[in-house]
Amino acid sequence: MEKRIKIGIIGSGGIAGAHVKAYKELDYVDIVAVADVVPGRAEQFIAKWELGFAAAYDDHRKLLELDLDGVSICTPNVAHYQTTIDALNAGKQVMLEKPMSVTLEQAVEMVQTAKKTGNMLNVGFQPRYDPNMALLKDLVQSGQLGDVYYVETGGGRRRGMPGGTFIREDLAGAGAIADIGCYSLDMAMNTLGNPKPVTVSAYTSNHFGTNRKYHPEADRFQVEDFGAALVRFDNGLVMNFKISWAMHMDTLGATMFLGTDAGLKVTPAGKGPWSGVWDGSVGSITMFHDIAGHHTESPIPTVEHKKNLFHEKVRDFVEAVRDGRPAPIPGEQIVRNQAVIDGILRSAKAKREVEVFIPEF
Ligand SMILES: NC(=O)c1ccc[n+]([C@@H]2O[C@H](COP(=O)([O-])OP(=O)(O)OC[C@H]3O[C@@H](n4cnc5c(N)ncnc54)[C@H](O)[C@@H]3O)[C@@H](O)[C@H]2O)c1
Repeated sequence: MEKRIKIGIIGSGGIAGAHVKAYKELDYVDIVAVADVVPGRAEQFIAKWELGFAAAYDDHRKLLELDLDGVSICTPNVAHYQTTIDALNAGKQVMLEKPMSVTLEQAVEMVQTAKKTGNMLNVGFQPRYDPNMALLKDLVQSGQLGDVYYVETGGGRRRGMPGGTFIREDLAGAGAIADIGCYSLDMAMNTLGNPKPVTVSAYTSNHFGTNRKYHPEADRFQVEDFGAALVRFDNGLVMNFKISWAMHMDTLGATMFLGTDAGLKVTPAGKGPWSGVWDGSVGSITMFHDIAGHHTESPIPTVEHKKNLFHEKVRDFVEAVRDGRPAPIPGEQIVRNQAVIDGILRSAKAKREVEVFIPEF
């Protein structure tokens, strides 16, 4: 008989529902417990998602006392650190929502705890499951661009500011950079083989979020709605990163990889006011190169697919738990993403370039 996998959910807000939907597609998975700090919220979630006899808690540590194979951590960013540390120490395999944490120091400790306990710390960046991301990575890694010396990524929403927990510093820790910027960073850095950042010089602002004209919760808006940074990596590569939740501009441009033999332009897949940021999947890929001395633009055929990327990430996590495989997207990789975010926040505050130190694991 197939082994049943027991899952707990920590944080029962919006994205936890997407996790449940994906788990429900796997007939060997049981969601046995839900925890949320707001009393009554876990019970409501269990009723809404028809989770039968699942246990409800308002303290995640109680949930972690159960015999579980894995947990989905779906709390606001600030709580990612403690819930992950507690889950790993309680012997659970962890599926953590993005961004990994708020600071680099926290991310490092999370990875060290995963190593020490031998448990999985998997960070859920679902765009990795887009076949076009694999295509893009293959293209860049194949050497067809020559040496890649510059990448530009991120992008801008003309208007697309969330509210609620996403704009509170005590819960989100950071704004657009952490919320959507972490995706562009992962998509670019994973494509490039996850280089190690060494310095960051950044600027952030929140002219839109704090203005009632643009945001109904302006009085409670405490994070950045725009950021720009120059990041240097230890292999000499430079990244120009910019991200906005709101701006008076149509676009901040495409993602670009410049190499000594060819360049690639990548556009985001989404449409509408909340798009314009490379934070999901791939729209188009164009290669710029010279053929017989002629400037040539070659559209790269993208892969048509109907995959639900979110479901793919949850399935891959569960199968890794079931089969005893390592984390599909290990915290050890994503710590470099967090290092850039941490560097941006520190540099913007200090108004100067800062160095980034990531220990070896
Ligand atoms: N991968 C994606 O596509 C995606 C999309 C949206 C959000 N997210 C990420 O998911 C996380 C949650 O986002 P959301 O939109 O569901 O937020 P939300 O505010 O809707 O829900 C978060 C829930 O966590 C609870 N909570 C807070 N601290 C807790 C703790 N210590 N223990 C247990 N519960 C706690 C809150 O009470 C709330 O119910 C964020 O980190 C966000 O960046 C990912």
